Amino acid sequence: MSDSVSQDCGLDEATRRADGRLIRAMFDAVAPRYDSMNDIMSFGVHRLWKRRLRRMAGPPRGRGLALDLAGGTGDIADLMADKDWAVAVCDPSTGMIDAGRKANAGPRLRWVAGAGEALPFADRTFDVVTLGFGLRNMTDRRGALTEVLRVLVPGGTLLCLEFSTPWRLIRPAYEGYSRRMIPRLGAAVAGQPDAYRYLVDSIGAFPDQKTLAGWLRDAGFATVRYRNLFMGIAAIHSGTRPA
Ligand SMILES: C[S@@+](CC[C@H](N)C(=O)[O-])C[C@H]1O[C@@H](n2cnc3c(N)ncnc32)[C@H](O)[C@@H]1O
Repeated sequence: MSDSVSQDCGLDEATRRADGRLIRAMFDAVAPRYDSMNDIMSFGVHRLWKRRLRRMAGPPRGRGLALDLAGGTGDIADLMADKDWAVAVCDPSTGMIDAGRKANAGPRLRWVAGAGEALPFADRTFDVVTLGFGLRNMTDRRGALTEVLRVLVPGGTLLCLEFSTPWRLIRPAYEGYSRRMIPRLGAAVAGQPDAYRYLVDSIGAFPDQKTLAGWLRDAGFATVRYRNLFMGIAAIHSGTRPA
């Protein structure tokens, strides 16, 4: 995978498309073991973070339409979907969608193949967009944020859960675990060490909390905030589409 995946700008269109294809193929390959790997790597903590995201979404104020972008196997969508919320899960990897349909087959989920950079939805459709560990994998991240703003109704909210920059105190231990253990676990559990090396590299190259908040503001979001999770290992950024 080219180094350019980890940068947010300066990619020509052809490079972006090639990187996008490689990333999709990588997720197709890890899809059957994706959820188990998340549980093992994070000692189950990713589930707590996703529940936190769900609580932040709260009950709907509008029609109750949510988009889980880069939804993967749809575990966030499954937490969201209830009698009040109907959820579209959008992801470009058919492998992830197929695995998700088997694991999370709720009647209030609709599965849609598509990428964040060109969302296959009309303007002003969704009350909430959830984006869990997805922005980092996009080749035009700022473009994707503009797309999210476009498909949100005025007053609608983006909730973006992503790995971030941990507190200095825990960085050596965290980086040691990430660099040494995660590719080994990726090899042992998913048979895909390169995919999990990419995961570690992409986390290291992702912007910190304040920079990402700035990207949201630049894209046009209002009331931008973030909450650190587990000493900044991850963060949930939120922003609303101005009325
Ligand atoms: C790390 S997984 C996250 C899945 C799920 N949201 C979760 O929290 O477990 C990243 C997902 O992003 C998807 N993805 C990759 N490139 C994308 C793009 N350009 N637009 C939208 N999703 C993308 C992948 O197919 C994959 O399912």
